[in-house]
Amino acid sequence: MAKKSVTFGCSTCGATAVKWTGRCSGCGAFNTMVELKAAETRLARASDAPGLTIEAADGDDGPDVPRLPSGMHELDRVLGGGLPRGGVVLIGGEPGIGKSTLLAQVCGAIGKTTSVLYVSAEESTAQVRQRLVRLGAVAPQLSLAHESDAQAIAGVIAARSHAVVVVDSIQLLAHSELPAEAGSPSQVRGCASILVDAAKRSGTALVIVGHVTKDGGLAGPRLLEHLVDTVLAFEGDRYQDLRVLRAVKNRFGSTDEVGLFRMGEKGLEEVSDPTGIYLTDRDPAATGSCVVPALDGNRCLMVEVQALVNTTDFPQPQRRVSGLDPNRVAMVLAVLSRRLGIPLGGCDVFANATGGARVIEPAADLAIALAVISAWKDIPVPPDVVALGEIGLGGELRPATRYAARATESRRLGFKRLIGPGEGRGRGRVVCASVSEAADSIFPRT
Ligand code: TYD
Ligand code: MG
Repeated sequence: MAKKSVTFGCSTCGATAVKWTGRCSGCGAFNTMVELKAAETRLARASDAPGLTIEAADGDDGPDVPRLPSGMHELDRVLGGGLPRGGVVLIGGEPGIGKSTLLAQVCGAIGKTTSVLYVSAEESTAQVRQRLVRLGAVAPQLSLAHESDAQAIAGVIAARSHAVVVVDSIQLLAHSELPAEAGSPSQVRGCASILVDAAKRSGTALVIVGHVTKDGGLAGPRLLEHLVDTVLAFEGDRYQDLRVLRAVKNRFGSTDEVGLFRMGEKGLEEVSDPTGIYLTDRDPAATGSCVVPALDGNRCLMVEVQALVNTTDFPQPQRRVSGLDPNRVAMVLAVLSRRLGIPLGGCDVFANATGGARVIEPAADLAIALAVISAWKDIPVPPDVVALGEIGLGGELRPATRYAARATESRRLGFKRLIGPGEGRGRGRVVCASVSEAADSIFPRT
């Protein structure tokens, strides 16, 4: 009798194993291994090709993959120049972050000139149409479908009737030959593999939406990463209007680009000059605040770091951090206590990056330090100052990467002095070798 082929896959990281284990050997998560049925393995091999075609390495493939501009510059920038024909893009994000809104707008823009099909498994066509009307995204070549049968959708893709197909979302699709429920890892994988296969064969640009939970888990996107060409993550704080689109994997371009949007009344607006977006509510006279020219991918964003220092009688002072790396903050506080003699041991310290920004690069150390010193002295950092540099345990400063780009953007936004380590070149450069030198250069000695 033929042996039943059963493998197991981790629903978080996608690692596979021949035996069930309580703990995934790939990512170490518990209870995430699930059975992948033989049927799924069979489906994944839908494109059985006889033999192997071997080519010379210096062969000519003609021009690059043809691209379809998506009508949104920020998305095109992250994709590396538009949707690749015959390529598959997975957009993951938490529920409610704006994936459907983004794709409705993209479909509206593409549908002006090119045939595009938006398949929603979540909402009825009437609901989708309502949203399109509200977003002003109804277009002559945009068609809608409400469908959750993966085979039916694969059939439409294979028929080459549309240049672009959007499927929202993969978790709600079902494949009748697979035993598990919609949304289970084997269904998600099985459905995605037949859609990807159909897209590759027909040269259709396919966009798949996948929901992820806060910790990036849930059956879905992580399991699919290797199946698709490009994985984009749509992120943001639900209580803030800023949304960031990043490439997590990109077979057709770089993963360093980020796209920025604002969620407004009329859907997502592109933010094409984002450098100062986090500074809009800044009070230049406030104490405990310092600006850092931070990098997100290739983009320089000015971020305000805030600190509040408050004496406490409790033996265990509080340390609360948001938007910054808590370990870096703890290290900076230790350096300030030990090297500069600031008695932070008896103080609660709160530190955050404003506007929902997230800065975890060590280059923000100096700005954190100056914000804390400013809060402790109750003297503001002068409004024309930005700080950049990593702090070592001895209080010494180390230069940050991409200095020139950050300096240019700082000047463009009106900051006249850039405090940091390094050679003394460039307009407005204040060179300091240590945190205490940096503090002395902007705060009067007390
Ligand atoms: P949605 O695109 O449905 O999220 P997802 O598909 O990622 O689950 O977006 C839902 C949120 O976006 C919802 O809370 C309302 C908000 N929103 C706006 O603020 N403005 C708009 O124009 C639209 C369409 C949605
Ligand atoms: Mg949605």
